Amino acid sequence: MSALSETTPEYKTITPEPVSGALGAEITGVDLSNVADEQLDEIHRAFLQYHVIFFREQTLTPEQHIAFGKRFGTLHIHPYVKGMDGHPEVMEIIKEPTEKVNFGGGWHTDISFQEKPVLGSVLYALEVPSFGGDTLFANQHLAYDRLSQGMKDLFAGRLAVHSSEREYGAAGNSALKRKSMAIEQVGAEVEEFEHPIFRTHPETKRKALYVNPAFTIRIKDMTRTESRPILQYLYEHATREEFTCRFRWQPGSVAFWDNRSVQHYALNDYHGQRRHMRRVTINGDRPF
Ligand code: SIN
Repeated sequence: MSALSETTPEYKTITPEPVSGALGAEITGVDLSNVADEQLDEIHRAFLQYHVIFFREQTLTPEQHIAFGKRFGTLHIHPYVKGMDGHPEVMEIIKEPTEKVNFGGGWHTDISFQEKPVLGSVLYALEVPSFGGDTLFANQHLAYDRLSQGMKDLFAGRLAVHSSEREYGAAGNSALKRKSMAIEQVGAEVEEFEHPIFRTHPETKRKALYVNPAFTIRIKDMTRTESRPILQYLYEHATREEFTCRFRWQPGSVAFWDNRSVQHYALNDYHGQRRHMRRVTINGDRPF
């Protein structure tokens, strides 16, 4: 199978322009605060075809951002990151000029540490640095497709264990050392959830590699030590350059990615400048 879907759906109301051979398309001529049903259907098709879609020059109030997200499902409320006052489903992702650590600054799949993986995230840029702060995306269907048959056979039907401990736990990483976002620390008991290493996309039925270095802690029925080199190999494979695209933000840009199909990475190369984004995350409970 090619990087992008084999069949090219026909579009009448939008013109998606691919941004790389692996995934991603920019869509112009859409006002996300006012999307008609036919256009929404095509946006949904482009989302499934390209796995991450980009829009420019949008102006979204938190209410409009929520309303767009809700066209695809119910919205997720992050268990550790406090949302906007009055809008708990809107996460403000901010890095101040004085801060060194950013949010999402490593390859990850949003919310894989919970029982029900989320459908997607809609990220809207309000303020961006004059350089840097791009976001990278990696196509996990392509990562699955390009594994050898031996690797596919080895891990078919196997589960991996995911947890929030590394990012949000007491011994966890830097997320908590930030001042600009209210991020809670996980309690002593961190829940663990199992997901297939090769997860089937509920809409397209394509298989995707579904392990990530932020939240996957081991392979089920293996110790962490045993799992580590295998997972390390899979992480490196998952983010090979030819599976990726890179998005350069402007104020008003929006990225809408499919968490069932991609990993992403917020680059942290703009110290001394401010970056302010807002994200809503759509639950994976849409009835298809
Ligand atoms: C995230 O991981 O959702 C943040 C991505 C970004 O800020 O570019």
